[in-house]
Amino acid sequence: MRSKITGTGSYLPERIISNDDLAKTVHTSDEWIIERTGIKERRVAGADETTSDMCFEAAGKALEASGTFPEEIDLVIVATMSGDMPMPATASFLQQRIGAVNAGAFDVNAACSGFLYGLSVADNFIKGGTFRKILLVGAEMNSKFLDWEDRSTCVLFGDGAGAVIMEPAGDDSGVLSTHLSSDGSMWDFICVPGGGSKYPSSHETVKDGMHYIKMRGNETFKVAVRTLEKLVMDTLAANNMKPSDLAMLIPHQANLRIISATAKRLNLPMSRVAVNLDKFGNTSSASIPIALDEVVREGRIKEGDYILLEAFGGGLTWASALIKW
Ligand code: ACO
Repeated sequence: MRSKITGTGSYLPERIISNDDLAKTVHTSDEWIIERTGIKERRVAGADETTSDMCFEAAGKALEASGTFPEEIDLVIVATMSGDMPMPATASFLQQRIGAVNAGAFDVNAACSGFLYGLSVADNFIKGGTFRKILLVGAEMNSKFLDWEDRSTCVLFGDGAGAVIMEPAGDDSGVLSTHLSSDGSMWDFICVPGGGSKYPSSHETVKDGMHYIKMRGNETFKVAVRTLEKLVMDTLAANNMKPSDLAMLIPHQANLRIISATAKRLNLPMSRVAVNLDKFGNTSSASIPIALDEVVREGRIKEGDYILLEAFGGGLTWASALIKW
């Protein structure tokens, strides 16, 4: 029995920060950011807003789209690296807020690959018959983990949330396969070093900026391009499919140059690639469900279409899913 996505939803905070806005505070320019990343602006949450608030908004839309009542949900999974608190899980706040009174709840952290890791977990719970209805949300409030004086990171990220409801397919549509990988030897390519057991929060960790996202961007870029090109081909091969079978690629939104390289490898025109990083920047584990919600609501994918989802991020981790819509 396959699992399928029966509803999608997303939420983006109202406040927009443009490249020109950033150029007023750090030594950067609209031209540099667009040329190197494709990002034009990003959304940033309000000071009082939390990650679970964003989850709540996105989840409400996904529940409505799938015609699901909160009490029908068996499990709430939130993919995030920027939750409300280190403990409890952001999924617990969401479970209470939406009234999923019959559900278990936990978070998944695989940085930008988190949503696809969560999708794989949800898929297997449904395929195995353990659960029937799962709410999966990818949500990030990156803005609260950024050093707004570091031009190499603050121009890249944004806030947002995307949600899906997953349940048994009942036909041959749904998730065909998921693929999860990691290479922890490159953990320091992207990390938030402070605040855990290795560097517990202290005056020093705060003073040294260790609670901010650190990234070795150029080295990450090279590994990402190489890895994603192989990942998409391996994912198709595992399903005996070729690139021309794909109706749409829904990639993680880190850098337009990375996305274009993957599209080129697949020989897909950019009209069949979901791109929203120009508007939202890199929303980490929220980027794929937000992009998915957009293409669904715009009617860009139809029943029976094959879509490929792929992501790469901190860990390092990378993951993909092939879905028959
Ligand atoms: N404005 C102007 N100049 C800048 C800026 C900026 N915002 N940021 C860096 N520069 C400068 C650098 O200082 C450097 O200057 P130098 O040559 O004098 O030293 C120059 O621009 C080039 O810097 P690079 O880092 O080599 O630039 P690159 O072309 O690699 O682009 C970027 C940087 C956009 C970060 C790119 O490397 C990238 O996208 N990397 C991959 C990101 C990714 O995929 N991350 C995974 C997901 S994130 C997650 O999991 C949380």
